[in-house]
Amino acid sequence: DWSMGDYLKTSVAAIREKVGSGKVLLALSGGVDSSVCAALLAEAIGRQLTCVFVDHGLMRKNEGDEVEAAFAKWDLNFVRVDAETRFLIKLAGVSEPEHKRKIIGEEFIRVFEEEAKKIGAVDYLAQGTIYPDVIESGAGDAAVIKSHHNVGGLPDYVDFKEIIEPLRLLFKDEVRQLGRELGLPEYLVMRQPFPGPGLAIRVIGDLTKEKLDTLRDADAIFREEIAAAGEEKNVNQYFAVLTNTRSVGVMGDGRTYDYTLALRGVTTSDFMTADWARIPYDVLDKVSTRIVNEVKGINRIVYDITSKPPATIEWE
Ligand code: XMP
Repeated sequence: DWSMGDYLKTSVAAIREKVGSGKVLLALSGGVDSSVCAALLAEAIGRQLTCVFVDHGLMRKNEGDEVEAAFAKWDLNFVRVDAETRFLIKLAGVSEPEHKRKIIGEEFIRVFEEEAKKIGAVDYLAQGTIYPDVIESGAGDAAVIKSHHNVGGLPDYVDFKEIIEPLRLLFKDEVRQLGRELGLPEYLVMRQPFPGPGLAIRVIGDLTKEKLDTLRDADAIFREEIAAAGEEKNVNQYFAVLTNTRSVGVMGDGRTYDYTLALRGVTTSDFMTADWARIPYDVLDKVSTRIVNEVKGINRIVYDITSKPPATIEWE
């Protein structure tokens, strides 16, 4: 009888055997795959592992701290790079979506490369590749796009001998189960897909720290209320988008002229096609009321009722 506990033991032994006294480097994104990969390696080889977590300042509220906290129980070399300022400088005034993606991808590699140089030569570069990544036909899972997107160019920039991919035989559900077995918190193990460029592609048009903070606060309220209503299982991906449209509103005796926030929720099995989620009206109502009351700069909330195709899940 096959159990994930046995798989974990076998896997840890195999990693120790293979790595010996070697050094391993991993780029940790905070997504499910790279997090479970990091935890498995930490369990197996402890301080022989260095995880580089590039915090580009484009993550959701508290996300960076949550990722860091999840790894506190292992004795590994955990490098969190606070790169928010340099990403925001590079992105200043940029509004075209593909341009944003290109800048973020390049800057990510540059930051990672700088950290890798400080660490020096390693024996192995670890990647959180999972089975659907290996069989090309399984493409479509956002996490796949993510890991490819995030680590695709890296091997050229880092001094290593070999790539190791300890999750390459596992399906997504098994990766989550292994994460639980390793004691990773449920918020990491069940994390919904999150694009590599992060909130940069959920603020329409050009970015400022202020707009990102506004979006983070609104998005956190949306997630809180979805969880409180027990709707997490019914919606595969949900998030807020800060549009660049301003409209007139009324607040007390005064006129406002603030931004419109869009809520997006989809049901999907593969993220290649998706339907807009029928989130109950009373949940949407609560989210809308709370956001307009609690988040400065937003006076109107809309819900995105387009499916994919013709729309994509993200707005950029
Ligand atoms: P779209 O917007 O194309 O997104 O319908 C499909 C899924 O992929 C995610 N996504 C990305 N993931 N890097 C990523 O790692 C990206 O550049 C990227 N763009 C979209 C999106 O969140 C959705 O789950």
